[in-house]
Amino acid sequence: MGGSEVKADIEAQAAPRSFVRRSGRITIAQKRALKELWPKYGLKEAAAPLALKDIFGRNAPTVLEIGFGNGETLVRSAAESPQCNFLGVEVHLPGLGRCLLEAERAGLSNLRLIQADAIDVLRSQLPPGSLAMACLYFPDPWPRKRHHKRRLVKPGFIALLARVLEPGGVFHVATDWPPYAEHIEGVMGAMTAFERLDQPPARHTTRFEQRGSALGHEIWEAAYRLRPSY
Ligand SMILES: C[S@@+](CC[C@H](N)C(=O)[O-])C[C@H]1O[C@@H](n2cnc3c(N)ncnc32)[C@H](O)[C@@H]1O
Repeated sequence: MGGSEVKADIEAQAAPRSFVRRSGRITIAQKRALKELWPKYGLKEAAAPLALKDIFGRNAPTVLEIGFGNGETLVRSAAESPQCNFLGVEVHLPGLGRCLLEAERAGLSNLRLIQADAIDVLRSQLPPGSLAMACLYFPDPWPRKRHHKRRLVKPGFIALLARVLEPGGVFHVATDWPPYAEHIEGVMGAMTAFERLDQPPARHTTRFEQRGSALGHEIWEAAYRLRPSY
């Protein structure tokens, strides 16, 4: 690791969390899903990095979605791309429950979920060069200036991503909050390890995106490729 990456990693560790633990209402079906379906789809946080080949029973390109909310987009993508492995990281329990129910309904075998802070997952759960793509769709924008330090996208987070993406791997990000889009462009523009793609990959509309669009928010998205020589 170079000096700037070490600094960025320290910065990521020192930052406040990008989420506030919400109790949220959990339905009986979600509770049942968390009890009965978690053993099938859920991964425990472990001290050692995840052995993805053993977990999925094969070697295949792996796609990570960070903060998937209720998981509609994640489940649709996994159902459409059975040739890929999908990993979802979320902290919100009702969202995990919803996602489990949808995954079971879709009969997926290529999806696993982790309930954890994505920062911890990137730092210690994923082996270097293990992801073909990392998706961050509509992260909490933390609009107030005093909360900007809670935003996920910052140099420390991107340095962690660069470690776990394979050479040529893609970071796909979208937001409906123009100041956050500007911030992301600034952070990514300073990262020489990444180049911006002309065309982001296709993706499904998310629940937060629908909400933003209904409020008249403009949707911004971009995709950045980790330079193969990185
Ligand atoms: C604004 S919502 C967007 C949800 C979904 N991606 C969508 O577009 O509908 C942001 C989500 O990210 C999750 N989140 C925020 N910080 C996170 C972190 N550090 N690790 C995992 N999930 C996180 C929140 O719990 C929340 O569900």
